[in-house]
Amino acid sequence: MRPMGTWSWLAIVTGLCVFEGCSGYGPFGIFVDSTKDCAEMLLQRDIQTVANTREQRFLGKVPDTTARCLGGKRAENLREGPWLDWPNYWATGDIMSLAPARLLAHAKVMGPNVHGINGALYELELQRIELIKFNLFDNNKTYEAYVTGRDGEAGPVLKTWPEMRLPRTHPDFQAVGGDQPQVCRGELIRFRTLTGTCNDIRNPLMGSTHQLFARNVEFNSTFPDLALNEITGNRHGDRVGLLKPDPQIISRKLFTRAQSQPDRCREGYGLPGDGQEAECAYKKAPFFNVLAAFWVQFMTHDWFAHLEEGHNRPEWIPVGCATQRVKNVEQALTDEDVKKLGCRPDDKIDAAYIAEDTESWSLTHGGKAYLTRAPKTTVNHVTAWWDASQLYGYDEQSGRRVKRDPKDPAKLLLMSVREGGAEGDKLGYLPAFEAGDPINPEWSWQEASAFPDNWSIGTSFYHNVFAREHNAFVDAFRKLAALTPDGDSGLRDPANPDHVIRYRDVTPNELFEIARLVVAAEIAKIHTTEWTTQLLYNEPLNRGMNANWHGVFAEQQMVADALKEVVRRLDGTNDAKKANGLYAALAGGPGIFGLGSRVYEGVPLIGLIDPNKVDLWDLKNDDHINGGVNHFGSPFNFPEEFITVYRLHPLLPDLIEYREWNKEPNVIRQKVPVIETFRGKATGAMRQKGLANWALSMGRQRLGLLTLQNHPQFLQNLKMNRLQSPTQQIDVAALDLIRDRERGVPRYNEFRRQYGLEQLTSFDDFVDTRLPQDSPSRHEQEQLVKSLREVYGWHQCDASKKITEARLNDDGSPVNDCLGHPQGSLIDNIEDVDTVVGWLAEFRRPHGFAISETQFVVFILNASRRLFSDRFFTSSFRPEFYSTLGVEWVTNNGPGSEMMEQGKPNGHQQPVSPMKRVLLRTMPELAGELQGVVNVFDPWVRDRGEYYSLQWKPRAGAEGDEAFATGGR
Ligand code: HEM
Repeated sequence: MRPMGTWSWLAIVTGLCVFEGCSGYGPFGIFVDSTKDCAEMLLQRDIQTVANTREQRFLGKVPDTTARCLGGKRAENLREGPWLDWPNYWATGDIMSLAPARLLAHAKVMGPNVHGINGALYELELQRIELIKFNLFDNNKTYEAYVTGRDGEAGPVLKTWPEMRLPRTHPDFQAVGGDQPQVCRGELIRFRTLTGTCNDIRNPLMGSTHQLFARNVEFNSTFPDLALNEITGNRHGDRVGLLKPDPQIISRKLFTRAQSQPDRCREGYGLPGDGQEAECAYKKAPFFNVLAAFWVQFMTHDWFAHLEEGHNRPEWIPVGCATQRVKNVEQALTDEDVKKLGCRPDDKIDAAYIAEDTESWSLTHGGKAYLTRAPKTTVNHVTAWWDASQLYGYDEQSGRRVKRDPKDPAKLLLMSVREGGAEGDKLGYLPAFEAGDPINPEWSWQEASAFPDNWSIGTSFYHNVFAREHNAFVDAFRKLAALTPDGDSGLRDPANPDHVIRYRDVTPNELFEIARLVVAAEIAKIHTTEWTTQLLYNEPLNRGMNANWHGVFAEQQMVADALKEVVRRLDGTNDAKKANGLYAALAGGPGIFGLGSRVYEGVPLIGLIDPNKVDLWDLKNDDHINGGVNHFGSPFNFPEEFITVYRLHPLLPDLIEYREWNKEPNVIRQKVPVIETFRGKATGAMRQKGLANWALSMGRQRLGLLTLQNHPQFLQNLKMNRLQSPTQQIDVAALDLIRDRERGVPRYNEFRRQYGLEQLTSFDDFVDTRLPQDSPSRHEQEQLVKSLREVYGWHQCDASKKITEARLNDDGSPVNDCLGHPQGSLIDNIEDVDTVVGWLAEFRRPHGFAISETQFVVFILNASRRLFSDRFFTSSFRPEFYSTLGVEWVTNNGPGSEMMEQGKPNGHQQPVSPMKRVLLRTMPELAGELQGVVNVFDPWVRDRGEYYSLQWKPRAGAEGDEAFATGGR
């Protein structure tokens, strides 16, 4: 047995420290080689633990002693301003962030770099626990029980809700127990159901199609323009509304990509014949590629959809281009203004669906008043589960769009369309929709998929890849079945649990569903351990995200098993919220994935680390099937705020730099406008050019930075036939703001306060003061701040007006309209900034973050929750459901044993990434190109350099790539 390493204990120690504080030892193992600063930090007990009340939250800001201990003088100096402190600690950035040799020489055991990383992880865990404690607000009428508890049990540890029962009208109502306590069993729990019911066997309705979106912010902070109470009224005066400030003006002034040669971009429509001379300038991220941009669109189509079959409510509303602020006074636009700005007053859009808008009633508990839901609610039209529903369907109609292979119904239908093409082409392409398929007219000619809306070459790419992957699994399973037809497949039928299911017994339909389980889990793994670690490219996040999946004991299975058992048994203590927090913190040890998928006899921790212990997990035991899930007292669905932070349209370039894998990949052959691949046009583009060439092109190209003035031109000028307006065009960037306003997302500053982040007090706070005063980037940021001020304006503040209940000032006084400025002074209307605008304006970010810290905090909470809540990712990740081959496939990233990547990227030995394995299986012709690729979402031509480098430098063999010409701008 290998001894437990530092990391093994870290999970446990962190779990305890975040609650109790760590007097003497420190959460970072600092005691053993404490420097003066660290000793001082410990002496003064400057270590924040989980807050008892909302107002005492952590805010990501630490005392000077902590900053000095974990990141030296530099970290201390950078504490000014509202931004998180941990990104300034040792080793949390690139090579320059590593501690100097003189400090390392004095370190006795771990040294400052480890302190820095562990300190960052500690603070991230603290945030996650506080988010679970303070930010869960369910709209499904379960919130009252969350506040008051039920039958003597505290709300945050409730595990079932009457609201999550199937209604009488549901076809499975009787099957789950009718009016009796409902429990899903038998056929209903074997696989992921089409509509997502019965994932949690005791809450059949949870996460299923057409459930309400949740919220992460207090209900009374939503819908600020309704001025629900005096406080919201104080916060915004009469300055905000659906079209206030004007969304198209915001789009044109703050979102438009500047073009030095507009006639070569033509509003994103490029040049005829995909001319190579086309040029649409955009700000590029050096360490993230276009595949990553389309990946996340592919993901969102699985997780949430406000639209029903590509439509909103049949009521056509104006979308702005009517007024602008001039010298802080709102004025109507003249024709000349309209022309100059390029906006369109005649655009219209169909209004957002609202599920309920009757008055929400309030509840008083412990002397405090609560709303029991948001004033308006909205519906998620797909399953909230990570179940690959964009591929396989989420209701009867979308299910009918999925085409199975008539020759082998276990497979998805793929057609041969590129005769004599590359090896991968032989695996086929998705068929196009045909007459009689249940689709909207605008989806005609698109490739068949369950989720067809906003289709382009990017979604086409991933749907084709994962259809091939689905079939690859089926082929591998069939191969095994042919070799050992009487062998045990590992599968069991919950209706007949003792009966061994041999390979030969597995029906095509069952195999189809098993392949779906496998593909969904692979996708979740790719997103968690590969996409996100490149999105947040630094060491703490690499460790954190891998811990979410594998746990920090990835290489120590027995320890992981033991901790899983500890976490599984960690049930309601007297302090319910503390129990939830401990659960979340300790889960970082064994990882969330697979929690509860093994069960051991009730022996203490040391006994669990026993190689001879017996796994008692039993398909006949409901508690074993379901025992790994934890919803933290609030049924799972995505919160409305999650959608806001996924409005990532600036990631997209206007033009794709098209290359060919077998003909000098360094050469850009064409510039294909994304819009020329929109909807049905994607089918031709895919078939003519082929999957591997698109993989190469999007794999090498950098995506757009998430920042101001970087929205794709084609999305600001999107033509859609379904629009009932004179222009039949829409500015999607402006629509992003309108939708958030329709759905009552709090504006930026309150949004941050609600999530436990520090507030801003002026637009100047956005400027990254780490940059030299005279640097071009700083100058650009200062110009953008001026534009923000011009668009949102300013007002004379009134210190008598309290503007939030989410926090207090440091001295305990209420936060007021003056935000710390003197009474009566002119202050920026920072409170009115739309949340999307605010997070795009965050120029100061942790190292390697493609997103802002505001978006990130939303992910911390919800990315963990969608794993914690899903039985198929926790206690039902078992051969009984996935088959033995399926479990291996997900665990090892494909058939056979795990393959290891060469070398030690960023200091870690790591397996060949799951997405790279998928690409190698589905496009073997890319083997050469992918050889040096460690993370599929890092531009394939980039030299990853040393320790989390962000430099745009060619890797060997790509020096001649045109993407590095003109300095790589
Ligand atoms: C060709 C590419 C794309 C097109 C044409 C497109 C178009 C659109 C349109 C028209 C809407 C508005 C729907 C409405 O509210 O009426 C929308 C919403 C949205 N888009 Fe995109 N988009 C594209 C790519 C992306 C990408 C790469 C992302 C990245 C995550 C993304 C994320 C979203 C999100 C989160 C919404 C809100 C969805 C909802 O309300 O349920 N889109 N998109």
